[in-house]
Amino acid sequence: MKPSKKKKIVLFSGAGISAESGIQTFRDSNGLWEQHKLEDVATPEAWKKDPDLVTRFYNERRKQIMEVMPNSAHEAISKLEESLDVSIITQNIDDLHERAGSTNIIHLHGNIRYSKSSGPDQESQYYPIDGWQLTESDKCPRGYRLRPHVVWFGEDVPAYETAAIEISSADILIVVGTSLQVHPAAGLINFASTNAQKFIVDPNADQLVVPPDFQKINKGASQGIIDLIKILT
Ligand code: APR
Repeated sequence: MKPSKKKKIVLFSGAGISAESGIQTFRDSNGLWEQHKLEDVATPEAWKKDPDLVTRFYNERRKQIMEVMPNSAHEAISKLEESLDVSIITQNIDDLHERAGSTNIIHLHGNIRYSKSSGPDQESQYYPIDGWQLTESDKCPRGYRLRPHVVWFGEDVPAYETAAIEISSADILIVVGTSLQVHPAAGLINFASTNAQKFIVDPNADQLVVPPDFQKINKGASQGIIDLIKILT
């Protein structure tokens, strides 16, 4: 008797899942982009103009991320791996999914705990950052200054195709904590098959524009994910 195939859950997360760990989102009131002009800190042009400012911006975020803990939404998703085939596609550059114990994670926009060369062929090698600080003297073996392993506005999203394939194979797609305003990431939800069950968890889910077959759960990540997992398992 062939064992029944485990249901495949794909979780597509954004900044909102980390909000309950104390990390501010980007576009809520008092969000990150209200305090910093993204063109000054999150574009290749910003890096060329003032790499020290960009490095300081991400050092501050890395320091905060290292000081907070995964929340019960991260933990509930990690626990799901015991019974289901779970993969995570996150827009977040924090490592809270990893620290909660999840193992199958695609970071669409990079991972702040790593750096990469600011020279050509940047995606060939990522270097773990020891502690919270990257400095101007940190260089790659070819002598180029190291930059945060973060996809900036206007840069390609190397993991996009892998993420699209992953979502297309989901039996269940759970979108959580994203305003779906940044492309190409936001368009990934359209790769889910018509037979997949689709949910979106967000306190403002009713304001979000998603295809009609998404079930909207107007709750925060922790309560929303925990309630949803009770229904699904
Ligand atoms: N639980 C769940 N969702 C929440 C919570 C919470 N406690 N608090 C806020 N949210 C929701 C907001 O309602 C909003 O829909 O999280 C979403 C956050 O949206 P954004 O701030 O736009 O963050 P995100 O969608 O992840 O941004 C995408 O933009 O700046 C770039 O690269 C950056 O990856 C980021 C991308």
